[in-house]
Amino acid sequence: LFAGETDFLKGVVAMDGLPEADRIEVCFAGRSNVGKSTLINALTGRKALARASNTPGRTQEVNFFTLGDSHYLVDLPGYGYANAPLPVVEKWQALLKRYLSGRQNLRRAFVLIDTRHGVKPVDHEIMALLDSAAVTFQVVMTKADKLRGTALDDILAQVRGELARHPAAFPELILTSSEKGEGIATLRATIADLV
Ligand code: GTP
Ligand code: MG
Repeated sequence: LFAGETDFLKGVVAMDGLPEADRIEVCFAGRSNVGKSTLINALTGRKALARASNTPGRTQEVNFFTLGDSHYLVDLPGYGYANAPLPVVEKWQALLKRYLSGRQNLRRAFVLIDTRHGVKPVDHEIMALLDSAAVTFQVVMTKADKLRGTALDDILAQVRGELARHPAAFPELILTSSEKGEGIATLRATIADLV
């Protein structure tokens, strides 16, 4: 699947702009700056396909990428702190929530958690929203190159404890580093296995 063509299709600012729900879709959600756009670039092997930056609030639209002729990858605006005016942020947050709870072809939501930070209250809220909408979600730990040893084990235990509270959670998490390429093959295989 990932050997095929990947392309940017469109950036969407309202639900009526979503492309037809005629492909298998996965999305990447998570706090601002967690590494969503960078992960899409690592998965597709295209350094600048999704726009990433160190400024939280970089991605401001729901961005659709085509993967082969069967899948969409969706890069979402971050939640939590963003370096943008409040009314603007509130507009993306509303769209994000509507998208996550109302997209019929969404097979799995990947919820990204920064390995250094673990699950925060805003992450819990998004997971609860996915529970209510019965959208299966799977946690992807990002920036694994930044933390090792018992500190990492403690965070993973915290995340697993959180997942046990969510009926829509897929029990296995995937540890990744877009920087080092760790976990990228596993995540690709997970996406390719969704039908
Ligand atoms: P928003 O669009 O603002 O919500 O952020 P995002 O989640 O898309 O984050 P983005 O991909 O733009 O990455 C944020 C910052 O984290 C950038 O400076 C990336 O280079 C850095 N980053 C992302 N993944 C990794 C990683 O695996 N390791 C390290 N060390 N840094 C990373
Ligand atoms: Mg982004």
